[in-house]
Formats: sequence, structure tokens, C-alpha cells
Amino acid sequence: MTTAPASALDAAADDATLPAPLVIAIATQKGGVGKTTTTVNLGARLALAGYNVLIVDLEPQAQAGTALGITLGGLPDPAENEAELQRSLGFILQMALQKFPRPHLKQAMFDRTEEVLEGFEGNGALCVLASEEASMSAAQNAFVTKPYKETATLRHILLQEARGFHFVLIDTPPAVSHLNAVALAAADYVVTVCIPEYQSIKGALVLSAATHAVETNTGGECKPQLLGALLNRSNPESAWTTQDIDIRNAMIGDGINAEPGRGLFPFVTDVRRDVRISESYIYGRPAVVRFPNHSCGKQYTGVVEEILDRIELPRQKWTIADPVLMEENADA
Ligand SMILES: Nc1ncnc2c1ncn2[C@@H]1O[C@H](COP(=O)(O)OP(=O)(O)OP(=O)(O)O)[C@@H](O)[C@H]1O
Ligand SMILES: [Mg+2]
Repeated sequence: MTTAPASALDAAADDATLPAPLVIAIATQKGGVGKTTTTVNLGARLALAGYNVLIVDLEPQAQAGTALGITLGGLPDPAENEAELQRSLGFILQMALQKFPRPHLKQAMFDRTEEVLEGFEGNGALCVLASEEASMSAAQNAFVTKPYKETATLRHILLQEARGFHFVLIDTPPAVSHLNAVALAAADYVVTVCIPEYQSIKGALVLSAATHAVETNTGGECKPQLLGALLNRSNPESAWTTQDIDIRNAMIGDGINAEPGRGLFPFVTDVRRDVRISESYIYGRPAVVRFPNHSCGKQYTGVVEEILDRIELPRQKWTIADPVLMEENADA
């Protein structure tokens, strides 16, 4: 496990003259649709494109960290274990809520650039602010007891201590919980995720409504915008059922419970169901890094292109050469 802080960003992280990062939360009320998978793949792809990316795991299940090779709390030495747990986002949020001393984000985050992006050139940094179940659950309970304005705590920390990163991507828990409110309040943009099953549309619409409510709930301080909905685990067109077609219609606002003006702004690019994507979790390296030239890697590339277009970032800033990796050769 890499324990060194993000060296490339040490000097930059505190520099108030640097622009603040763009914060994107990946969220929906529905569980198991691919929020974590989407977060780590989009984050890794943005880093491959030369951006400095911080993945923030705001999830007691702590799976975004694991997907990038970081699982907190397993060290045999109790003192070392305790020190490591003090780098967890749950601990940092609890300390911040109580105004107690805590590690700076750049001391808490794990720099995964070398391990995850090994074999690529021209990439930016890829760091993760990892989660751990007990401390994140305790942080969630702490938010319940605090006034609503404290939901902006994570946003304040990121805007001060994540300078030097171009993007912060937040993985969120399912259900509309206090932790989700914290993620939405922290976000400039929200990406929601659907799968070709009816229940996922309701989850995305609930999330869309929750996103719209943040501005009012925070007295105008936080203004996240729903950037769009990704259809994940999609089926090939030749295998579409009525449900597949209904879901696509619902995402553009024509179907099921979608009200006028409440479409989910689907991305043109889907991410297909692919075992390469699910298997990559145990390697601690997202599929987009292991199979960049395979269809799954190209689909994530397409989604990143659409995200950057929608937030109007110039495309020429992030073109990269097609890399060749050992794993991909082995897979061919
Ligand atoms: N495009 C895909 N193809 C194949 N498997 C996928 C794909 N996307 C996600 N999965 C798998 O689906 C399962 C759920 O994905 P993931 O954990 O990312 O969902 P989640 O929304 O974060 O879940 P939770 O709500 O529990 O946090 C995982 O086993 C993951 O590997
Ligand atoms: Mg998840």
C-alpha cells in the first residue's frame, strides 16, 4: 500500500492562487447500479487524459478505495492501524464537524498514480481519499445531529485543501441519506447512473429532485447541477427487450414517472455489461486502465468526452495516445 502523500501535489494543494477543483458526485438512490464502478473508471480516465484527479469515497462500504487498491484498517500493528484509520474520510469529517485538529487532506489521501496508471505516459495524478466503515457510519450519525448548513462541510474542505486537483469525483452511498446530502452539497455537478431495469429510473429521479433541492436547503450556498445520466450494464441493441426501450425513453423524459422538464439528460454513450469491468475490482485497477483500447475502455472514454463537453472544457486539453498494456495483450 502506498503511504506517501501525493508528492506531485504537495506544493500545490495549499496554494490559494490555484483554481478550485471541479467537483462531480456520482449518485443515485438505487443501490448496486454501478456508482462506484463509474466513479473509479471515469476518475482513472480523466487522470489518463492528464488531469489531476482526487477520488473521494463517501461510502461506509469503502469500495472505491478497494477498487483503487486501498483498503483501510487491516494492518497487523495496532498503532499503525490506528494511524492509518486517522486518514479515513469518516475520521476527517467527524473531526471537522467538531472543529478538532485533523490531518490535512494532502496528508490523508493515498497517491495511486504509480500503481494504477503504471505503463502510461502523460497522465495526471490519481489520488484517493479512502473510507472505512465504522468511522464513516459515525460521521453519518454526526451529520444527523448537526444543523443542515453543516452539510457543506466537505465542500469547504475540498475547496480549501484540494487545490491542485482539476477534478474531484465523489462516490456516494445508495439511498437519499445525510451522506448523500453532504456529497450533493459538495458537488458542482452530479452524474447519475441507471441500469436497464425499471427501478433504476425511480432512483435517478429521486436523486434529480434531491439535487434540485440543495440550493434552497443550503440558502443558495451550494448549487449542484445534474449533468446527466449514464446507462450502465446496458445490453446490445440486438438483445433489447421492452424494458430496455422503456428505460431509454424514460431517461429522455418520455416515460414512466418522468415529468415534463425532468428528463435525466442521458449521455449518448452507454457502458455495456462486461465482465472485464466487474473483475477489475479485485485487481485494484479499473477496467479503463486495464483495457483502454477494448470496447469497455472506449465507452468510458466516450462518457468522459461527453462530460467535458457538457461542462464546456476544451477537448484539446485532454487528448492522449492509445497505450498498449501487458494485460490487454494477454487478453487478446
Ligand atoms: N458495466 C458493467 N458490467 C459488468 N458489471 C458491472 C458493470 N458496472 C458495474 N458492474 C458490477 O455491478 C456490481 C455493482 O456495481 P457497483 O458496486 O459499482 O454499484 P454501486 O451503485 O456502487 O453499488 P452500491 O449502491 O452498493 O454502492 C459490481 O459487482 C460491479 O462490478
Ligand atoms: Mg458503491
